[in-house]
Amino acid sequence: MTEKLELQAAEMRALGYRVIDVIVDHFEHLDEKVVGAKGDPVVLRPLFREPPPSLPVRPDEIFARLERDVLPHIMNICHPRFFAFVPGPSNFVSVMADALAAGFNVFNGSWLGGSGPAALELAVIDWFRNWCGFPETAGGLFVSGGSMANLTGLVTARHTKLDDRTERAVIYYSDQTHSSVDRALRVIGFLPEQIRRIASDASFRLPMDALARNVDQDRAAGLRPFAVIANAGTTNTGAIDPLREIAGFCRAENLWMHVDGAYGAAAVVSERGQKLLAGIELADSLSFDPHKWLFQTIECGCVLVRDAALLKSTYRIMPEYLADVHRNVTEVNPCDYGIQLTRGFRALKVWMSMEYFGFDAFRAAVERGFVLSEIAERKLRTLPRWEVMTPAQMGIVSFARRGASEEFYHRMHERMLRDGFALATSTVLNGRTVLRLCTINPRTTEEDIERTLDWLDALADEEHLPGAQM
Ligand SMILES: Cc1ncc(COP(=O)(O)O)c(C=O)c1O
Repeated sequence: MTEKLELQAAEMRALGYRVIDVIVDHFEHLDEKVVGAKGDPVVLRPLFREPPPSLPVRPDEIFARLERDVLPHIMNICHPRFFAFVPGPSNFVSVMADALAAGFNVFNGSWLGGSGPAALELAVIDWFRNWCGFPETAGGLFVSGGSMANLTGLVTARHTKLDDRTERAVIYYSDQTHSSVDRALRVIGFLPEQIRRIASDASFRLPMDALARNVDQDRAAGLRPFAVIANAGTTNTGAIDPLREIAGFCRAENLWMHVDGAYGAAAVVSERGQKLLAGIELADSLSFDPHKWLFQTIECGCVLVRDAALLKSTYRIMPEYLADVHRNVTEVNPCDYGIQLTRGFRALKVWMSMEYFGFDAFRAAVERGFVLSEIAERKLRTLPRWEVMTPAQMGIVSFARRGASEEFYHRMHERMLRDGFALATSTVLNGRTVLRLCTINPRTTEEDIERTLDWLDALADEEHLPGAQM
């Protein structure tokens, strides 16, 4: 049997149930686990440096090795006290949907490859379109994450506004914009001098006057302004750029407006998010990441474009070997709307978890992210050695130890990792290193927040760090 790479039904079940047991055990005991462990490359890399075995290894041994050498050495981004970067608080239904999509090895690149999955993906994209207030003409597709969504949107902007000719073209965004945008622009041929990274205002938002001034100056210099990127929740502080004003400006100046909502756009499902993100519906393209604040497993990103036809004119290529795919014009082929031909069935997890829990549960879970960051802010204000640097905003609060040097944050990072109770990571705001908590995990309790901040305070004191002399 093994030369066909096949298992008997009973063997498949045994292996499958074992995998499920490992996963369920992980979810069940997540709270008691360390938030994350980073292995030493000197120790870990040699463990795996070996040729593949010529003969089968017993499943017991495979699992033992995975559970000893691989799975313990991860950041548990679903952990209720993982507040670092952007957490990935996935849900178990999403995990099972991934198993189903892999089990059927769904080819979600064309209608022919999977008409049911393509129809379902279109329906889920339409949910997103509706939530974001986009017109009927809008469409989009699932991609791996925010980086690919930004890339997919920017290629569409380049194609639509510049006919793919990048000479003297210029793009504008704030200095708080995610690095995936810089990378996307590098990938598609923009040079640093074609990028205006505008200093953000006191609230870390893109200032309209500086934007207008830059565009004016560039036009006067014979350059070709073509796009503005607005943030719908920055990674650093959760700041939202003035979306309506940027949209008005872009219309008036004939510029493409791409909104990076990879972190924050999913908040539109909540009432609060709807209000804060007003204007998002005016974007020409939007990145939206269900694997962040919509509780899906990675990888699950999405790009929406106001006029789906533009996505198609940007990406569609019809080679002779796909003639059977393109024969019927009423069929929608996801490969015509993006970079990937062979692609997985990412929409399934969103659909299945929405069906399983219901939309109201998602709305409440997002709302909880806002509330938790407010709880964190209130607690921080009771701790005299810390100061709040940016208030709770879109589930993010940033804070700094009074009088601490940059070195303090390096040491704190090491301490947090060693201890494993919780994890917050640092960033830099206006040249000052700060810590931030991103509280979008609905599993997090009020007590988790309280205990994490007390623990951080105690760690800082224990280290006899500069702040302790307050
Ligand atoms: C605002 C923003 N944009 C883009 C990205 C990149 O998304 P991904 O890591 O899914 O590629 C992130 C990731 O945190 C983000 O916060």
